[in-house]
Amino acid sequence: MSKVTRPASVLLVCLGNICRSPTAHAVMQTRLDEQGWHDIDVDSAGTGDWHIGRAPDPRTQQAAAQRGHDLSLLRARQIEAEDFYRFDLILAMDEQNLADMQALQPAGSPAELALFLEPVEGFGKAVPDPYYGGEDGFETVLDCVEAGVDAWLSRWHQTG
Ligand code: 4NP
Repeated sequence: MSKVTRPASVLLVCLGNICRSPTAHAVMQTRLDEQGWHDIDVDSAGTGDWHIGRAPDPRTQQAAAQRGHDLSLLRARQIEAEDFYRFDLILAMDEQNLADMQALQPAGSPAELALFLEPVEGFGKAVPDPYYGGEDGFETVLDCVEAGVDAWLSRWHQTG
């Protein structure tokens, strides 16, 4: 289980940084703003480089907008070595994503890595990749992300 109590900085990571992690980024930022936790820095990145500089996938933006989350200003970037020094906690959207980051993490860098869904009961371990699937995949991402963000904030609320 993650040992980080209340982090100063959190990086949400998926494969492309155009579907799952920007959704988690926006939802976590909204929830932190609502709680008045302005001291927690949130960002997102992908392990892949295909979409660097692009806005989130239009299907992701549309599904998120229907639940009140604006992703339009986010732009994809690739995770870099410096992130493992800059962020206290780096959350992976699935187990492959976590393994890829464990392989990338510089030895001795302080970031703690965990699965985004670690504190959530009932959703499994992975936020399913919606990129090649149907429209309902984007709703599933939002369900997972909203549950995951609420669970992390509740954990930090208790331990912070
Ligand atoms: P994400 O989804 O990791 O949730 O941003 C994907 C986006 C793009 C690709 C794969 C997954 N792709 O292969 O280009």
